[in-house]
Amino acid sequence: MKAYMTSGTIDYLKGIDQEYPDLHLYLMTNSEGGIAYYENSEKKIFNAGRVFEVVMQTGEIQEEGYVVMNNIPVSDESKPGFEHRFKNRRNTVETMPGFQAFRLLKPLQGNTYVVFTQWGSVADFDNWKDSEQFKEAHKNQQAKQPAYTNERPFLTTCNMYIEDEDE
Ligand code: HEM
Repeated sequence: MKAYMTSGTIDYLKGIDQEYPDLHLYLMTNSEGGIAYYENSEKKIFNAGRVFEVVMQTGEIQEEGYVVMNNIPVSDESKPGFEHRFKNRRNTVETMPGFQAFRLLKPLQGNTYVVFTQWGSVADFDNWKDSEQFKEAHKNQQAKQPAYTNERPFLTTCNMYIEDEDE
């Protein structure tokens, strides 16, 4: 399954959403603007943006919630090892309160994987981030992380966009 992501102003992304009623676009917002995401389609509708292979998926993405994406640059030679680690992951994130969805997205171009998570609220994510389960799922990483690449992972956080009924 493929997944597609692009960014832009929310008005621009809403326009795209209206143009393609048959595609289920998920719209998200943060301080930098908007992000649109869809999956399970062969149709590429974004001019710019990124295409991924969905390597792993659990949970259904909801219309409401808080999204945290961990963007992890991984060099070509480290990709198999990185994916292997995910195949042997703890699978405990799914048991956490407020968990809604998880995706491991492999880039078709470039080196930056996206670990997509969706939560009921910011507090649900923070609770997981501070938990023993998070620590367990990420242990031994200090030693292995530099092997991925020398670029640092970075987080993208956003809220699911909810149409204002007054508009
Ligand atoms: C920046 C440092 C981080 C790196 C390099 C990293 C990398 C990894 C790797 C390689 C795994 C597979 C398990 C393992 O090998 O231990 C994993 C698990 C996971 N990571 Fe991270 N991660 C980091 C921080 C985060 C953050 C901030 C999030 C928030 C979205 C996140 C989301 C996840 C999820 C959902 C799993 C699966 C956990 C489970 O199965 O219970 N990671 N991570």
